[in-house]
Amino acid sequence: MPIDPPADAPTAIADPLLSWFDVHGRHDLPWQHPRTPYRVWVAEIMLQQTQVTTVIDYFNAFMARFPDVYALAEAASDEVMGYWAGLGYYARARNLHAAARELVATHDGVFPRDVETLMTLPGIGRSTAGAVVAQAFGVWAPILDGNAKRVIARLAAVTATPGTAAYEQPLWALAARYTSTHRVTDYTQAIMDLGATLCTRRAPACSACPLEDRCQARRKRITADIPARRKKKARPQRAVTVLVIEDEVGHLLLEKRPPSGIWGGLWSLPEIAADADIEAACRERFGLDVVPDVPMTPIEHGFTHFLLTIHAWRVRSLAATRIMDGHAEWFARDALPGVPAPIARLVDTPQHDLNL
Ligand code: ADE
Repeated sequence: MPIDPPADAPTAIADPLLSWFDVHGRHDLPWQHPRTPYRVWVAEIMLQQTQVTTVIDYFNAFMARFPDVYALAEAASDEVMGYWAGLGYYARARNLHAAARELVATHDGVFPRDVETLMTLPGIGRSTAGAVVAQAFGVWAPILDGNAKRVIARLAAVTATPGTAAYEQPLWALAARYTSTHRVTDYTQAIMDLGATLCTRRAPACSACPLEDRCQARRKRITADIPARRKKKARPQRAVTVLVIEDEVGHLLLEKRPPSGIWGGLWSLPEIAADADIEAACRERFGLDVVPDVPMTPIEHGFTHFLLTIHAWRVRSLAATRIMDGHAEWFARDALPGVPAPIARLVDTPQHDLNL
C-alpha cells in the first residue's frame, strides 16, 4: 500500500535550490560536457557506489577507449573489466556491458527516453533511469540516489529507519512532488550536489542551505537524527589466502578469476586454500619451483555483505618454467592489468613493509 508524503512536507523547493545551484553547484563534471545519453549513463553507473572525485579519472579513461555505445558493445568483456578494475562492485561493469549490447541489438544503439524502457536494461534501476532521462533529455523524472534520499528525508522529517517501507515508500512520492517541472536537468544535479556538499550525513551545513527555512527536520531540530541509524548487523567474516609470486626479474604471476563471484572476470593474485602447502600448490598448479617467503600484513576489505581478510604470502619463483594453468600469466610490474583495489595495495607493498 503506497504511503502518502507527510502532510506538512513542503512542496516548493525548486527555485531556491536552482538559484543555489547556479552559484554553488557542480557545472564542470566531465559527463556534463558533452551531456550525451551514453556519457550520462556510464557516469551514473560509476557513481552508484562511488564518489565523484574517484569516478572522474575512470570516466575519462573509459570514454577515451569506449567513446560510444557501439564501441562498448563490440569490446571484449576482459577489456571492459580492465577499465573498471579498482572501482569495485564489478557487477556494474558486467551489467553495463550487457546493457550496451542490448541497446545496440534491440534499440539500434539509441537510448530510450523513458524511465520504464530504460529500466528493462541490466543495471538500471528507477533512480538511475530518472537521472539519465532528466540529465540527457531534460525529461521530467524523479531521482532518489543516496544524496537525494537524505535531503528529502530531512526536508519532510521522515524519521523511519532506512530500509523499511515506512522510510522508502514516502520518499518516492516526495521526490516526485519536489522534482522541478522546469530546468529538470539542473534540478537533478542540484539535489545531488546539495546532498553531497551541504546536507551531508554527519555535518550538515544548515545555515548555508537554501532550503533551511523549509526543512521540517531543521524546524524540529532533528536533522542529526535523520536518516535514522540502522541497527548494524555484524557482517560475516571471510578470509582468503593469496600468493604474490615473483620471478627473478620481478614479474608477477596473476590469475584470471572465474566470471562469477567476487572480482569475477578480473585479474588477481592466485588464491590457495588457507592450509595449502605453498610449494606443492605452486608446483601442481603452475609448474613452478618456489620458495615461500614471509607472510605479509593481512589486508581487510569490506564488501557489502561480508568482511574479507586477505592473507598473502610473498613467494619467489626459482625457475620460471612453463605456466601450466591456462588462466595464469606473468606480468611486468609496469604493465600490470587492472586488479581489484585491495590486491593493488598488496602488490604495491614494498619488501621492507613485510610483517617480519
Ligand atoms: N551521484 C549520482 N549521480 C551523480 C551526479 N550526476 N553528480 C554527482 N553525484 C552523483
